[in-house]
Amino acid sequence: MTTNQALFERACQSIPGGVNSPVRAFRSVGGTPRFIAKAKDAYLWDEEGKQYIDYLGSWGPAIVGHAHPEVVEAVQKAAENGLSYGAPTKAEIELAECLIARIPSLEEVRLTSSGTEATMSAIRLARGFTGRNKIIKFEGCYHGHSDGLLVKAGSGLLTFGNPTSAGVPAEFAQHTLVLSYNQIDDVKAAFAKYGSEIACVIVEPIAGNMNLVKPIPGFLETLKEQCQAHGALLIFDEVMTGFRAGPQGVQGLTGITPDLSTFAKVIGGGMPVGAFGGRRDIMQYVAPVGPVYQAGTLSGNPVAVAAGLKTLEIIARPGFYEQLSRTAEMLTQGLTQLAKEAGIAFSADYVGGMFGIYFRETPPTTLEEAGDVNADQFKQFFHLMLDAGVHLAPSSYEAGFVSAAHHDNIINQTLEIAKVAFSQLT
Ligand SMILES: Cc1ncc(COP(=O)(O)O)c(C=O)c1O
Repeated sequence: MTTNQALFERACQSIPGGVNSPVRAFRSVGGTPRFIAKAKDAYLWDEEGKQYIDYLGSWGPAIVGHAHPEVVEAVQKAAENGLSYGAPTKAEIELAECLIARIPSLEEVRLTSSGTEATMSAIRLARGFTGRNKIIKFEGCYHGHSDGLLVKAGSGLLTFGNPTSAGVPAEFAQHTLVLSYNQIDDVKAAFAKYGSEIACVIVEPIAGNMNLVKPIPGFLETLKEQCQAHGALLIFDEVMTGFRAGPQGVQGLTGITPDLSTFAKVIGGGMPVGAFGGRRDIMQYVAPVGPVYQAGTLSGNPVAVAAGLKTLEIIARPGFYEQLSRTAEMLTQGLTQLAKEAGIAFSADYVGGMFGIYFRETPPTTLEEAGDVNADQFKQFFHLMLDAGVHLAPSSYEAGFVSAAHHDNIINQTLEIAKVAFSQLT
């Protein structure tokens, strides 16, 4: 038995499924998760000392590369002054001001400790502000694991949802209308039927949780239009895309301004930080000024905020996003070319420092298309790459991430390994 196998067996005795977040368990690709002992720059090392080129990037946060010396120094300095106070700090203001300065739609923000808390709180706020209960989400978009968001579409078009998790009361799911991503007509039909009851629409403005799926022209515009016309709030969940798709998130790329936005991942630089924010008149509904309760013992934690602030400083340096996009482009174009040479049906896409690889001819635009891939070839490819020292996301429904530390030689090395892997697919 290998060390990773022994650790996995041991983990399964004390932790459900051996992991603290389900996708880490490799259920959709099979095999044994690698237990990570160390990460630096673009690399991971497992407990067996094996090195991997990392395309997980901690699922998004590791945008400047792992253990960036400036981030580590900022964390160490903050830690020396105490780990948590339960009282306000100057650094929290700096982080709030930094987010507001960079993200077009933000006038005020509240910090949380995770993306789940940020989206859950933004939805509560939208309900409190509008005095309405119903929300719209899109199948295949993930917004964290709060009850009302673990919902799939109901049995008929425009019927309210059903829970996707045991333990979520059907009554909670019944406030959530689940529509198909990129289906503009469904959005219009939903508003035509329920317009006056809808508190908000929450969307990943570029989806990263059904692999990378971009919005078709007109989709986000329709959400904005319909929300405005019916007095509902538009929430962009930029937990993944914020500071990852571009320096101002998807709202900066598209010019579409949501009423509320949520962030996490990059803004904590690898530490637990989330945020929700938006229009001041809406944010003024949050306690203690307003009636919508929201709180957190570790919200705005000084060590986590220090990591986030330093990360935001590094990514604002000239040329950062140009280099990041060029890296993602080099990787995705290289993989596409190699797959073509090997005669494999394959496509890839990217935005900023996130990318998708698809074992199908064209990038998907819907959840259905995202599932319509050669899953068997993905699994083989994943394991061939892993064995050869490249750690991709262990599911064909997940996006991948590059960092500023993924230099050209690392991408070239990845492509050499991929060339061999493509040639071995059956
Ligand atoms: C778009 C999006 N929203 C929300 C979340 C939940 O964030 P967290 O895992 O920090 O709770 C995620 C996590 O992957 C996400 O990708």
